[in-house]
Formats: sequence, C-alpha cells, structure tokens
Amino acid sequence: MQSREHQTALRALLQPAVIPVLTIDDAQTALPLARALMAGGLTSLEITLRTDAALSAISIVSEALASNIAVGVGTVRSPEQAEAAIRAGARFVVSPGMTPSLIQAAQNWPVPFLPGAATASEAMALADMGYATQKFFPAEASGGVAALKALAAPLSDIKFCPTGGVDAGNAGEYLLLSNVVCVGGSWVAPKVLVENGDWASIEALARDASGLAN
Ligand code: 3PG
Repeated sequence: MQSREHQTALRALLQPAVIPVLTIDDAQTALPLARALMAGGLTSLEITLRTDAALSAISIVSEALASNIAVGVGTVRSPEQAEAAIRAGARFVVSPGMTPSLIQAAQNWPVPFLPGAATASEAMALADMGYATQKFFPAEASGGVAALKALAAPLSDIKFCPTGGVDAGNAGEYLLLSNVVCVGGSWVAPKVLVENGDWASIEALARDASGLAN
C-alpha cells in the first residue's frame, strides 16, 4: 500500500510537468547535464538503471544538487535495484510496470514509488493498492492521448505520468488532459547533445519543456 504521505510527496516531486528521462553512459556527464536541465527550469529528473554508470550518476547529482533538484531512479525491475538507488540518493522510484515483489518492498522504502500501468485493469489494481498516481507506459504505443482520454471517464480519480514516445511535439497535448499530472521523456536530453557536451542546447530544450502548461 502506498501511503498518503508518499502520494503527496510524489505529486510535489513531479512538478514542473516534465520529467526528463536520462540514460547516462558516462557518469562524468551527469552533473553538467543536471545543471543544464536545472538552468532550464526543471527540478526533477529520472536516471534510468540501464547503464553501468547509472548509480554513480544518481549519487553524483544527488550529492551536488540535493537542494535544487530531485533525482529519481527509473527502469527499476527489482527491490534490490530500487534499494541500491535509494542508498545512492534517489528521492523517488519509477518502474515501467509493477510486480508483486516491487509492490511489497515499496511499503518499506523511505521514498515514493511511481509504478507503471498500460491498461484499465493494471491501473485499477494499482489504485486499489493506494497508487493514485501512475506512470502510463509505453504511452504512445498504448494508445497515447486517445487511450488516456478514454481512461479518464471511468477512472477519473487515477492520474498518470505518460512516458514512452512523448516528445516536444505531443507533450502539450498530453498535459491538457485532466488525468495527466506530468509527462516523462528522453527528448529533453538527446544523446547526441550529451555526447557533444552541448549544455546550452539542452538548457534551451529544458526551458521549452518547463514552459509547457499543465
Ligand atoms: C522511459 O524509460 O520512461 C521511456 O522509455 C522514455 O521513453 P522515450 O525515450 O520515448 O522518451
């Protein structure tokens, strides 16, 4: 069961309405990247556990920018992964889905959990466990804006953070939906800009993203 305190904390962490989803290959890039996103007005980010550098990146950014930016951990598949990331400083945990072991373990985490759902049944099961806010993944492949609009009628109390195929072109449309509290995506920090150390361009993308209305 997700506690009410964690739900409230999660909703605060998911503002402003765009959460950059970062896959970091080189931990050295983590800090300048986070600073560029912050300079563009974003105050939360998600570092995915898809690379060997991910835990170091979480720890570097959490230590340096703890009071300015909330670092979450993404692509979490097991309780052990979540717990290692929390020890490294992660302030929230994101998963593309939900498993009984994650739901069980999350009860003891000191930080909130954003599990993923892609169907009405998954969303209802999570809501029954106290997860009023959920990741909607993979958003575009699961029907995108039309699917979320359809879910809003019967499940109006459940709010979503769609990710997967969300970009500068469609983020605004998602954010207009009554059941969308934020969107997540990698478009704010394209790999090529990170590799080139083009922090000014990333800051500009972040500024556009943070300006999207909710
Ligand atoms: C995620 O990890 O949450 C999504 O896969 C990000 O998807 P995107 O790369 O399509 O933005």
